[in-house]
Amino acid sequence: MKETLLEVKNLTKSYKTGKTRLTAVNNVSFTLARGETLGVVGESGCGKTTLGRTVLGLLKADSGQVMFCGEDVTNKKRHPHRSDMQIIFQDPYNSVDPYYTVEKIILEAVQDKDKVDELLDKVGLSKDEKYKYPHELSGGQLQRAGIARAIGMHPKFMVCDEPVSALDVSYQSKIITLLEDLQQEEGIAYLFISHDLAVVRHIADRIAIMYRGKIVELADTDTIIDHPVHPYTHFLLSAVPAPFSEQEEYPVISGRQPNEQGCVFAYRCPFADDLCFHTEVPLQERSENHSAACLKY
Ligand SMILES: Nc1ncnc2c1ncn2[C@@H]1O[C@H](COP(=O)(O)OP(=O)(O)OP(=O)(O)O)[C@@H](O)[C@H]1O
Ligand SMILES: [Mg+2]
Repeated sequence: MKETLLEVKNLTKSYKTGKTRLTAVNNVSFTLARGETLGVVGESGCGKTTLGRTVLGLLKADSGQVMFCGEDVTNKKRHPHRSDMQIIFQDPYNSVDPYYTVEKIILEAVQDKDKVDELLDKVGLSKDEKYKYPHELSGGQLQRAGIARAIGMHPKFMVCDEPVSALDVSYQSKIITLLEDLQQEEGIAYLFISHDLAVVRHIADRIAIMYRGKIVELADTDTIIDHPVHPYTHFLLSAVPAPFSEQEEYPVISGRQPNEQGCVFAYRCPFADDLCFHTEVPLQERSENHSAACLKY
C-alpha cells in the first residue's frame, strides 16, 4: 500500500451568481498516493477546474477537508506545503505574463539563472527559447515553459488542468510523455483533469468520472475501461454521443434543478426510474477499489 499524499473529504464548492447558487463541486472525496495519477474526467462545466483549484486552496471551499502530507490545508493560502502543490493550466497563453520572457517566467520558481537552463533542458526547450516572449512561442513550447516553472518548485503534487486540450493533436502526446517522464524522475502525484477519456486512460492509474459536481464512478483505469458500472461512464466510453450534448438544455422535470435531489444523471439516464429521481445516491464500493453512484447497476 502506497503512502497517502492527499486526502480530499466531502469537498463542496458553490458559486453564487445573482439569486442562484450553483454547487460546482458537490461532496467530493478521494485520496491520492505519492507518485500516483488520478484522472478526473467529465464534460465541460461538470466542475473539474473548480475541484482542482479548491483542492489547491485557490478557491475557498464551502465545506469539506483537504489533507496534504497529513496536514489540514483546507482554505489555507499559506501553509508549509504551499510550494509542494502546483498547477499547470489549460491555456498556456493565459497562465503567463505576456511581458515576461521564458527565462523570467521560470525565474518565478527558481532564483538561480543556471537552474533555468537545467529546467529548459528537462522540459525539452532549447536555450535560445529563453529570451522569447509568450507570443513568440507555440502553444506546446509555452506549455513546456509552464511545466518548467511548476516543476522548478519540486512539487509533490500537481494539478494538470487539461494541459494538452489547447494543443495540436500531434503535440499532445509529446506533452503527455514529458509529464510521465517527469513523474518517473521526481515522483510527482498528478490530478490529471480532462474531458477526454481517451487522453486520460493513457496516463492515469485511477480515474474519477465526474458529472454535475459529483464523482459518479471511481476505479482503477483498467476497471473503468473494461468494467464500467455507471451509465454515464458507458456513455463516455461509447462512440455514440450522449442523448443531450453539453450545449443543449437539460430537461428539467417539474421545475426542479437536476442535482437538487436524487441521482445527478437521472435526467439523462435511459434506465432511471422514480427512485433515481428522489433518492440520494451515494458513491458506494462495488468491489475492491471500485465505487459507483448508481441505484440500477
Ligand atoms: N467564477 C464563477 N462564478 C460562477 N460560476 C462559475 C464560476 N466558475 C465556474 N462556474 C460554474 O461552475 C461550473 C463548473 O465550472 P468548471 O470551470 O469547474 O467546469 P469544468 O469541468 O472545468 O469545465 P471545462 O471542461 O469547460 O473547463 C460551471 O457550471 C460553471 O459555469
Ligand atoms: Mg475546466
